Amino acid sequence: MSNLYSSILAVRDLKMYFPVRRGVMSRTVGYVYAVDGVTFSMDKKEILGLVGESGCSKTTLARTILMLEKPVSGQVLFDGKDLFKLRRRELAGLRKRLQIIFQDPTASLNPRMNILDILTEGLLQYGMVEGDRETHARKLLAEVGLDGDVIYRYPHEFSGGQRQRISIARAISLRPDFIVCDEPVSALDVSVQAQIINLLLDLRERYDLSYLFISHDLSVVGYIADRIAVMYLGRMVEVGPAGDVVEDPLHPYSQALLSAATAPGVYRKKRIILSGETPSPVAPPPGCVFHPRCPKSMPVCRKEVPRETVSGKRRVWCHLC
Ligand SMILES: Nc1ncnc2c1ncn2[C@@H]1O[C@H](COP(=O)(O)OP(=O)(O)O)[C@@H](O)[C@H]1O
Ligand code: SF4
Ligand SMILES: [Mg+2]
Repeated sequence: MSNLYSSILAVRDLKMYFPVRRGVMSRTVGYVYAVDGVTFSMDKKEILGLVGESGCSKTTLARTILMLEKPVSGQVLFDGKDLFKLRRRELAGLRKRLQIIFQDPTASLNPRMNILDILTEGLLQYGMVEGDRETHARKLLAEVGLDGDVIYRYPHEFSGGQRQRISIARAISLRPDFIVCDEPVSALDVSVQAQIINLLLDLRERYDLSYLFISHDLSVVGYIADRIAVMYLGRMVEVGPAGDVVEDPLHPYSQALLSAATAPGVYRKKRIILSGETPSPVAPPPGCVFHPRCPKSMPVCRKEVPRETVSGKRRVWCHLC
């Protein structure tokens, strides 16, 4: 486990709830308990893979870390500073060090802006353009393996893989330390996925970047990540070195998730089919939130929330561990 104090990012007991509103007065009648007590940390240059079924709050967790959602409680320490306690001026300096790459570059790149404007918009805002804008943009394109002559073209003139390279160039333009990659290759052809992943790995080495790498594809996460965190219904259930989690998951939910994966080297046990649907995050089950679907559920699981168990570099939240 990373040391909370030497890490680039430390998230402590983070909670983020969306209000559920009803009626003409938009009265709050409940909450979507989207992120409910998440604690983890990341070292400089580390890639943490974040996995879990759709709707388990991977994106909401990432958005809260990036200050795009307001938490109910908890802390996000970036380089030792509590992001939600900083003054506006300090925040502006830090904000550029945290960036995001989205799944769909078509939606995240403004179709009316040319590549030059897309790549230098943030740089101009922070007064970071070195030399002339064109030269700076060409350098950024070279960093992501694109020809500098395309700076006056528009996003629709590129393939999906090229657009994702442009998104990556924009993300690194402000020289960040930490990038959320939210399903960055899920929309791309398999042949292009490997190129983008290798580009991200090269850039990590070149700029000492840390990535929170969200993906539903366990073979991709197993390849790129140093550690893997498994989420279920807004909570972490297991965190550990990628190889260990992929080959020998300890939490019953991780075991079920990995048993469904087809990637080579991944947990080779009989496929575990979970019964029932994922419960609603508006009314999460008491005790262990996984208990209604867990094949190993015990009476205690219905009453008591499992505490964190640390074993070497593994952390698991289960009464069995
Ligand atoms: N703006 C929002 N308002 C209310 N609920 C939301 C909002 N955004 C996401 N949610 C809910 O929060 C939960 C987590 O969503 P999300 O973070 O997108 O999951 P994931 O990225 O793992 O698929 C889901 O139940 C989703 O419906
Ligand atoms: S705490 Fe109980 S219900 Fe939850 S994962 Fe462990 S065994 Fe299953
Ligand atoms: Mg998502």
